[in-house]
Amino acid sequence: MVEFNPQILSREELRAISAGVNKEELLFFDKHCINVYYEQNVLIEAKEPGSPWVVVRDFKTGEQTEILDCTSQNWTLALGFANPDINYAVAEQMKRLTHIKSDVVSPSRAKFINKLSELSPGRLKGGRVHINNEGGSLAIEAAIKLALVASRDGDHFLTFRGGYHGNTLAMLAASQPFHPITRFRTFGVDFFTRVPQPYCYRCLWNYKNGLYGQKDPQCNMECFDLVKEYLMNLTTRKLAGVILEPYQAAGGHIPFPPDFLIKLRETCEEEKIFIIFDESQTAVWRTGRYFTLTEKYEKENGLDVSPDMMCFTKALGGGFPLGAMIASTKIKKRFTAAEDHTTFCNTPIGCTAGLASFMVIEKAKIGENCEERGKQITRRLKELQEKYDMIGDIRGPGLFIGIELVKDQKSREPFTELMEDMLHEGVRQNIFFGPSMPYLSGTGKLLMRNLIKIKPPLNITEKDAEFICDKFESVLKASINNLK
Ligand SMILES: Cc1ncc(COP(=O)(O)O)c(C=O)c1O
Repeated sequence: MVEFNPQILSREELRAISAGVNKEELLFFDKHCINVYYEQNVLIEAKEPGSPWVVVRDFKTGEQTEILDCTSQNWTLALGFANPDINYAVAEQMKRLTHIKSDVVSPSRAKFINKLSELSPGRLKGGRVHINNEGGSLAIEAAIKLALVASRDGDHFLTFRGGYHGNTLAMLAASQPFHPITRFRTFGVDFFTRVPQPYCYRCLWNYKNGLYGQKDPQCNMECFDLVKEYLMNLTTRKLAGVILEPYQAAGGHIPFPPDFLIKLRETCEEEKIFIIFDESQTAVWRTGRYFTLTEKYEKENGLDVSPDMMCFTKALGGGFPLGAMIASTKIKKRFTAAEDHTTFCNTPIGCTAGLASFMVIEKAKIGENCEERGKQITRRLKELQEKYDMIGDIRGPGLFIGIELVKDQKSREPFTELMEDMLHEGVRQNIFFGPSMPYLSGTGKLLMRNLIKIKPPLNITEKDAEFICDKFESVLKASINNLK
């Protein structure tokens, strides 16, 4: 086995690549990088291995601080920055192999695929797994490809308002529209039809005085009736599948109710349409359960809402690039090598890190910790809701926490400016909060972006959870003042 002994460069030269950056390098970078950076911070290193705290340096002033990260860096670092167990497994993998081509097998790939298949719920148990080393967009595209291969004659897909499925040109077409903040046309728009999602805090069927009302207690699931029309025969081409985040994440932490999913299941079975869940943000214990609503509704309501295919990324790879799709064994079709490969689709590091992360989460009971810390934070937020009229809805569960900020609880008018100010104020007060994605009109008017997210690593301590709650209140207070 190869050990880590550099042969051409010195250890110091190699270490310097990641150890720091000086002001001149940063100013140069600012000129040379095509992306515009929202955060004016450089993330330097974990405060401690596996911690939710990160050492950050201000881009311009060079000042250094420590920040508690409630974004888990795109909701990915379930076990904190530079987790020691994952890093150990990755280092062992790197001594053996760092990259292999698409059509060969590595030990970690075989083990990871077996594990995912064995863990999967409902009709996905024992299913067939597809893996990539890029992330969610390619996982969903794999599901779309399989639906195209396996569908009788369908080649069209239903997606939902508020859904976000990625930033490849095809996945932009499947997602909530971002024009004109994206300046190019998406590709393949004729493959997708978007329909309204069930959104109980702002029910489309309860629209009064320019605002959507709260779900009617007598709700008859009218939102499903509309979707059913599309499922039956309203799209211009025959449907192969329906793609949804059963718990919409970027769109504002919006769960699909169990009755909706059951009705969807019934109609899709009758019409031979595949259901594809995009659990990119929600799976892997973020909600205290491995699979979000599939497990919750099975446990609490005795319902099996599991889909035909499910897609993952984010925390799946233990912080390393990994995306996956699992398909029910009822789908007999498989891909040929030509139908599905990319250069980096088989890098063993993601599978190794992902497997190490699964093992740590199981052994250290991180799912239980996530549930407990989630309850702790949600309890405090509910108390704050009594005190602050701007806290509208609080949605969980686990550490998948989103808070809708409103002008006042009665009108429920979205308070987008408050959410934006809280992100900046948070950085000033040593905490990163996350935003929901923007809802825009066709002319680019920002209609709403009022959900603030608290999604720290799942291994946070009780003390860190208290810190988050204290900071949430002080940031909220400061931002209300800033906006006066
Ligand atoms: C629900 C959901 N699906 C898909 C994606 C796309 O994943 P990726 O950016 O890895 O392509 C994301 C990314 O944020 C997501 O949140």
